[in-house]
Amino acid sequence: MIEISNVRKSFRDVDVLKGISLTIEDHEIYGIVGQSGAGKSTLLRCINGLEPYDSGEITVDGALVNSRDKSALRGLQKRMGMIFQNFNLLERLDVYGNIALPMKFWGINTRSQESRDKIEELIRLVGLEDKAHMKPRQLSGGQKQRVAIARALVLDPQFLLCDEATSALDPEITKGILALLQKINREMGITVVVVTHQMEVVKQICGRVAFLYNGSVLSQGKPEEMFIKPAEKEIQSFLRDKSELLPRTGVNIQVFFVGEGSNEPVITQMARELGKDFSICWAKLEDFRENIYGSLVLNIDEADREQVCNFLSSKKVAWEVLT
Ligand SMILES: Nc1ncnc2c1ncn2[C@@H]1O[C@H](COP(=O)(O)OP(=O)(O)OP(=O)(O)O)[C@@H](O)[C@H]1O
Ligand SMILES: [Mg+2]
Repeated sequence: MIEISNVRKSFRDVDVLKGISLTIEDHEIYGIVGQSGAGKSTLLRCINGLEPYDSGEITVDGALVNSRDKSALRGLQKRMGMIFQNFNLLERLDVYGNIALPMKFWGINTRSQESRDKIEELIRLVGLEDKAHMKPRQLSGGQKQRVAIARALVLDPQFLLCDEATSALDPEITKGILALLQKINREMGITVVVVTHQMEVVKQICGRVAFLYNGSVLSQGKPEEMFIKPAEKEIQSFLRDKSELLPRTGVNIQVFFVGEGSNEPVITQMARELGKDFSICWAKLEDFRENIYGSLVLNIDEADREQVCNFLSSKKVAWEVLT
């Protein structure tokens, strides 16, 4: 478990982390999301000790992360695999050599049967069996990231930290990489922390997420709870998904489908029970891991407002009249 408590950090006179507190549980996929410059990468670098923090506390399974204690730090970094946007592969080594590199760094004999089995198993895991002896320049972006993932796993880490791991990849390739991260989490029990500015990443794989804004955690929770009906205007503007083309006549009511009651056929029930006509003038339904959540906007006659509001209040859905 990674516990971050009131962590502050500044670069010269600029406060970059302003008292961050959050807990990452074992075996979850935790997202850290926010706009460019919010402090996401800095926070991740503090977690694995690449960057010192000024005050507060970060502990991993109860042990303090202290970047001045170099030997403890090396042990910690061994338990944390890390992957980056730009892959960071060595061009002179092939796929196999790149994956073996952390073993070399730790003085592990890469020629032993055990090491070779391990590397080959990882090559299979990331689906690069036919590329083992190719150089990075012969690989696509998605394939390079697969090598980086295998390399990050070669020392059997407990945690996998990903900094914008899919930001340089197209949407289809991103899906494949996210599925791989999910598999690593589920089958190997590795705790995954993903730093990203891509909502798709958070929605597809994160069980919990923290929204970082200007060095502070503005909100944290399940992605669907945070992003379907966000109260914070900073998150609303980050999502940029409110329509500006809603009808100007009648009443616009937004109905949210998330959590309990999200699968009930509320809209058709309403049409039948009230015997009213209305139109759906905006909708967004999205996959959040195994579920589909979202919201839609109904346009109703002003005369029906009270009846419709009463009906919706009697159901387990969240809703609001848009003004
Ligand atoms: N080594 C450094 N020296 C000085 N300022 C830094 C340093 N690293 C980061 N910063 C500043 O800290 C702030 C947060 O940077 P950080 O890289 O953590 O943001 P981020 O949320 O990861 O952004 P992005 O989405 O663009 O990667 C920025 O204003 C950045 O300029
Ligand atoms: Mg960053």
